[in-house]
Amino acid sequence: MPDLSTPLSRRLGLRHPIVAAPMFLVSNREMIVACAEAGILGSMPSLNARTAEAFEADLQWIRARTDRPFGINVTLGLTAPERTEADLTLLERYEVPVWLTSYGNPTAAVARAHAAKALVFHDVVNKRHALKAAGAGVDGLIGVAAGAGGHAGAVSPYVLYPWLAQHVDVPLLAAGCISTGKQILASFALGAQLAYVGTRFLASTECGAVPAYKQAVVDADPEDVVYTAAVSGIPANFLRATIPDDMTPDRTPEGARRWKDIWSAGQGVAEIHEVKPIGQIVEDLVREVHDALAALPGR
Ligand SMILES: Cc1cc2nc3c(=O)[nH]c(=O)nc-3n(C[C@H](O)[C@H](O)[C@H](O)COP(=O)(O)O)c2cc1C
Repeated sequence: MPDLSTPLSRRLGLRHPIVAAPMFLVSNREMIVACAEAGILGSMPSLNARTAEAFEADLQWIRARTDRPFGINVTLGLTAPERTEADLTLLERYEVPVWLTSYGNPTAAVARAHAAKALVFHDVVNKRHALKAAGAGVDGLIGVAAGAGGHAGAVSPYVLYPWLAQHVDVPLLAAGCISTGKQILASFALGAQLAYVGTRFLASTECGAVPAYKQAVVDADPEDVVYTAAVSGIPANFLRATIPDDMTPDRTPEGARRWKDIWSAGQGVAEIHEVKPIGQIVEDLVREVHDALAALPGR
């Protein structure tokens, strides 16, 4: 079988060039360990632990079960500064290999991560964000395309990665609408080095989402996904049926709790037909990439 590794996946020591992307409230430490065993990079937001103390307990739990790399997402601009500081200190102390930053300026986090020999990948949705993050010295840019689960950009994945690659010389990760091996292969053809996959892993056995949420992802068509800023003030994709009619944006910390009842998912729901264990999802994705390569027209 052809080798699918990329400079970034080799740098991280991954068996497969795939990241299970961090998802607010639903990614958990069980997913991180299952991803490590499957040879990909697992991750979760630090905020999925209610307190910094609970987050530290999660890091100890993960460290006791794997010495493979994993990532933690820290939302720099949206979180209380004291909590962000406590979480960054824990990333240093537990030598978390990959820091996934979103919102705000990553400059200070980059200096701390590099001193701790960690890599920083930062979320961007356009050229302006990408130039800023590249200037801050990040090791990878996560291009979040239109149709992604969670807070998403508005630019098509067909355009986003080649567009960013024209302007920044930083490795790209492709986030948005990747649920199959064909889509991984397409994102690599467009210049990405890692597939950053959220919604597909939401419908995994290990994921902390309630069973009805996972089933809703399995049942949904892409047309059931709506892009709206009405939930948290930042445009994001949600399953339409879970959005109340009388929605006013709520940017307060209480607003974040809405994500418990208003379910986010991306347009990648189109090809998610089953809740599967993470090991099976990864095996299927890798096989699908090889099948897609072999089936390219002209081969
Ligand atoms: C339910 C849900 C919650 C998310 N929460 C976060 C988050 O807290 N932090 C973050 O950086 N990205 C978050 N994301 C975005 C993912 O990390 C990733 O960029 C996205 O899921 C990729 O698109 P896909 O869902 O189409 O695969 C979330 C996505 C989903 C589906």
